[in-house]
Formats: sequence, structure tokens, C-alpha cells
Amino acid sequence: MTGENADNSNHVLEIPEGLRHLAIIMDGNGRWANSRGLRRTRGHKEGAGTVRRITTLCAEAGLEELTLYALSVENYVKRPRHEVEFLLALLKRFVIRERATIMDNNIQFRTLGRTEEFPRSVRHELEKLRDLSSTNDGMTLRLALNYGGRSEIADAAKCIALDVKEGRLAVEDVDEQTIQDRLYDPLMPDVDLLVRTAGELRVSNFLLWQISYGEIFVCDTYWPDFGNKDMTQAMLNYGSRNRKFGGLVRPVDA
Ligand code: IPE
Ligand code: IPE
Ligand code: MG
Repeated sequence: MTGENADNSNHVLEIPEGLRHLAIIMDGNGRWANSRGLRRTRGHKEGAGTVRRITTLCAEAGLEELTLYALSVENYVKRPRHEVEFLLALLKRFVIRERATIMDNNIQFRTLGRTEEFPRSVRHELEKLRDLSSTNDGMTLRLALNYGGRSEIADAAKCIALDVKEGRLAVEDVDEQTIQDRLYDPLMPDVDLLVRTAGELRVSNFLLWQISYGEIFVCDTYWPDFGNKDMTQAMLNYGSRNRKFGGLVRPVDA
């Protein structure tokens, strides 16, 4: 049932030079389902399969960091309750079922976001997989769950305010590193490439701090159909970019 576009035959992905951290806004599950006359939840279920395929593909290719936007703070409060409950149940099932995928591929699993608001049983499974995989030293897979870029920065600001109030930090010492050190995962590197599926040209509150110089690639494919072909295209496209970080391109501009 998964799309024609997803050529998922034995395929080795080549990670371009300089691409350490790939972040993906996994969008279009609802539209994928609607276009087939199916319920939105069916699209989410297919989307979970894509998470497994893309995670495996990236880990096998030797990518260092993969961060997937699975649920925003806005989704958590604005989507119908039954859809959110379905997503939480799907997440729990995914974390249990994909334990072998994570361990066999030497992946370190982490989450990003306000998962403390999730039901206890979901939290428990997330923590179990995080702990189990904590000494794996292959790719780091982060799922952004009940995540918001603005919430993350607001939470960091709150920590800084408290540190100043309690005398652990001087106002004059507050700089970019002070904020970075108080993000949800301070060791997570900046995003090199941000991919968004399903065509929307927006960031939707994802990793606002970390994408500051990230390259952006948007494709029309709905997430359940996203496959090797799209990934290869994203990699080739990234490889053709001149990243300047505000400086000049060498040797052309030297
Ligand atoms: C992305 O698919 C998954 C989540 C946001 C949970 P959507 O559910 O946003 O799908 P569309 O955008 O309605 O097609
Ligand atoms: C972004 O997709 C969130 C996730 C992929 C988890 P949305 O579908 O929520 O974004 P908008 O509403 O189209 O901006
Ligand atoms: Mg969407």
C-alpha cells in the first residue's frame, strides 16, 4: 500500500560531506489517507512504517544525528482528542516493536520535548528504550514529541532566570552558549539539513534555535510515501549547496 514513489529496494544512501545532523518534519499523513479515502489515523500508521525505514536507511549509511518531528506542542492541544490518543498509542507500540531495530543498528534513542505531560505508560516505554540504548554509539535518533521550538527557548530562559536569581550566573555572562547549555538536549549539534515532506514552506515551530544556518529541502511527497528516492534527492541537493554561514565562499570569492 505504501507509495509507488518509495523505491525501497536494497539501496545504500550516500551521506554528503558536512551533513552531520538531518532533521525531518514528517508531514502529510492525513493527506495521504484522505487521498485514498481512508481515515487520518491510517496515514499515521503508515507513517510509523516510514519512520522505521528511514531510520534504518540513515543508520546504515552512517549518519550521525537524525531528529524526527513526530508531535508538536500545537498538535498535542489542537488535534481532536481521539487523534492524539491514537498517536500516543502508536508511539508506545512503535517504541516496543522497534526495540530490535534500534539495538541491531546500534542507535542511541532519545526524545526532545515535554514528554512529562504524556501518560505514564507511554513515558515508561520511552524511558526504557532511552536507557537500553544509552551506550549505543552509532546514530543518535531523536523523536521530537510534544515539542515546540518556542517552548524550548522559553524553558531555557526560565532556567537562566532561576540561575541568575539564585546567584549561580551573572547577567553579564549570559551569551549564546548559556542558552545552548539549557536547551532540551544541549549536546545536540545544529541542524545541517532540514527536510519537510508534503510541500508546506514553513517551519511549524521546529528546532528554531538549531536551524539558524540549516539548509532547507522541501519535497511534495507525503510522509508515508517518503522513501529512498526522496532521500537520495535530498542528499544530492544538499551536496550542491554552498554553505556560507555569513562569510564568503572559498575559493570562488577569495
Ligand atoms: C504529520 O501529518 C503528522 C503529525 C503532525 C502528527 P499530519 O497529520 O499533519 O498530516 P496532514 O498535514 O494533515 O496531511
Ligand atoms: C508539523 O506539522 C508537526 C509535525 C510534523 C509533527 P503540522 O501539520 O502540525 O504543521 P502545520 O499545522 O501544517 O504548520
Ligand atoms: Mg500536517
